[in-house]
Amino acid sequence: MEAHENLGPNGPAQTTIYAIANQKGGVGKTTTAVNLAACVAEAGYKTLLIDIDPQANATVGLGHSKTENHTIYEVLVGDSTLEQATLSTNITNLSIVPSTPDLAGANVELPRIAGSEFILREALEPLRGEYRFIFFDCPPSLGPLTINALAAADRVIVPVQTEYYALEGLADLLDTVGLIQKELNPRLTIGGLVMTMHDGRTRLATDVEDELRKHFPGLLFNSVIPRNVRVAEAPSFGKPVTHHDPHSAGAGAYFELAKEVALRG
Ligand SMILES: Nc1ncnc2c1ncn2[C@@H]1O[C@H](COP(=O)(O)OP(=O)(O)OP(=O)(O)O)[C@@H](O)[C@H]1O
Ligand SMILES: [Mg+2]
Repeated sequence: MEAHENLGPNGPAQTTIYAIANQKGGVGKTTTAVNLAACVAEAGYKTLLIDIDPQANATVGLGHSKTENHTIYEVLVGDSTLEQATLSTNITNLSIVPSTPDLAGANVELPRIAGSEFILREALEPLRGEYRFIFFDCPPSLGPLTINALAAADRVIVPVQTEYYALEGLADLLDTVGLIQKELNPRLTIGGLVMTMHDGRTRLATDVEDELRKHFPGLLFNSVIPRNVRVAEAPSFGKPVTHHDPHSAGAGAYFELAKEVALRG
C-alpha cells in the first residue's frame, strides 16, 4: 500500500468515491461538489472532481471552459482515458475532469451500449489509489449519467435545499439508490444529506430542517450550508468560495462539512 502514503494527512488510505446527487434542480449540488472538493483538497488530500453534468457548471466554476479537448464525454464514449481528460486547477491537490454540453448526447447513446452502466466504474479502476477522494457532480436527473456515477461511487451525498418542496423527490432518490445497491453496486451507501442555502431566520427553513431530522435521523450532516452571497458569486471568478472569500460564512460551513466527510473517510 505504499502508493497510498502521499494521499493525505492521515497516511495510507483508500480512495473514497462520492456522488453528489439529487434529481431536483438548483439545490446546490455543483456548489457543494466544487467547495467540498476544494476544502478536502486544501486539507491535504489528493482529490479529483468529475463533472458529469452537460451544464458543465463545476468545470466553469473551477476556471476551465466548456470546450476542453478531452472531457468526460470522450471518456464515456471510449475516446479518452480519465487520465487524459484530467486537468489541474488553481487549488493545490485538486484536479478536475471537465464536462461539455456534448455530454447531453450520452443520455441517448449510453442506453444503446450493453453494460454501459459500468463505463465510469471501469474507467476509474486505474485511478483507485491515485486520489484519496473522488467527487462526481451529477446532473439534475436520475438518467444514465447519474446512474453511471452511482454505479461507480461508494457513497452518495444529497444536497437538500431547506425550502417547501425539499422532501419531494427524496423518496424517489433513496429508492433509486436502493435499486442501484441491489442491481449494480452493492458497495453504495448514503454518505449523508446536507442542508444547503439555509436561512435560519425563516420559519420555513427551520420547519423543513425539523422535518428532515424527523424523516432522516442519522443521515443529516451536522454542518449546514447557509445562504450566502459569497458562495453564489464565487463561480463567476472561477473559484471555490474558500478562495474567493475564505472568511465568509459559506466558506466556513464548507470547511466544516469537509471535516465531517474526511472524518468518515
Ligand atoms: N449557499 C448558497 N448561498 C447562496 N447561493 C447559493 C448557495 N448554494 C448555491 N447557491 C446558488 O444557487 C444556484 C443553484 O446552485 P447549484 O448550481 O449548486 O445547484 P445544482 O443543484 O448544481 O443545480 P443543477 O441542478 O442545475 O445542476 C446557483 O446560482 C448557486 O450559485
Ligand atoms: Mg449543478
